[in-house]
Amino acid sequence: MARLEEACDVERFDGDGVISHDELVARVAGKQGLIAMVTDMVDRAVIEAGTSLKVIANAAVGYNNIDVAAARARGIVVTNTPGVLTDATADLTWALILAVTRRLGEGERWVRTREWPGWAFDQLLGMELRGKQLGIVGFGRIGRAVADRAAAFGMTVAHTSRSGDGIPMDRLLSTSDVVSLHVPLTADTRHLIDQAALARMKRTAYLVNTSRGPVVDEAALAWALKNRLIAGAGLDVYEREPIVHDELFALENVVLAPHLGSATSETRTAMADLAVRNAIAVLSGEAPITPVT
Ligand code: GLV
Repeated sequence: MARLEEACDVERFDGDGVISHDELVARVAGKQGLIAMVTDMVDRAVIEAGTSLKVIANAAVGYNNIDVAAARARGIVVTNTPGVLTDATADLTWALILAVTRRLGEGERWVRTREWPGWAFDQLLGMELRGKQLGIVGFGRIGRAVADRAAAFGMTVAHTSRSGDGIPMDRLLSTSDVVSLHVPLTADTRHLIDQAALARMKRTAYLVNTSRGPVVDEAALAWALKNRLIAGAGLDVYEREPIVHDELFALENVVLAPHLGSATSETRTAMADLAVRNAIAVLSGEAPITPVT
């Protein structure tokens, strides 16, 4: 905020939670720059109301919350925050992989009931990671960072990728013991993991999603978890955040995290810093640092 206030007049949303769409539409009028969060839907209506906008700086790497085509058509630069959140998101992915394969959520809930009877030889047995295959869907910065950490756990890695140097999706699904999603949300990736994809996975396999909720058909996932089509899932993102598919709450074999991928002090500071520098660059007539291309 201090850096922004040095460079321009700043109007900030100080309300609780997320600014309403109506208020965003009303307040974007007359502004040259907009710094947005993933929860702000910067759709055509917002962009059309922002007739003076020169830059929309998203404080996130994903930018599915922004109608980039509408912005581009009006000559508005859109920027995101790639790179600075790669490690934090990869670490959180591993936290979910470990939590779901070692039944940590289930165990924690048990201890909190004050009714855990104590250690037992065959209690809450999970799946060992060593020697298993980690399937990475989307081999960009974050997917690669997740893959880099796999050696420490003795896992082999398979991946799909847009450039076609990976293995086909069907094969990845049918051979992996953990499937982790790292694709951006686009028209092509919406419901990439649907009932058919889940049916292709091993019954002993786990699904982890730290990308975007709509990449997974949440109703199909709940069904698959309930019917033990797969062994479990670790989710950080949901189809209609903050709403979580109701059936998931009753299932022990799913770990539910509240969209924490980039939530470390270091990373959120770096994201804020990069979004601010992008906005100021464009407003000063300079090139953006990390434009969405
Ligand atoms: C967070 O979800 C991001 O895309 O940075």
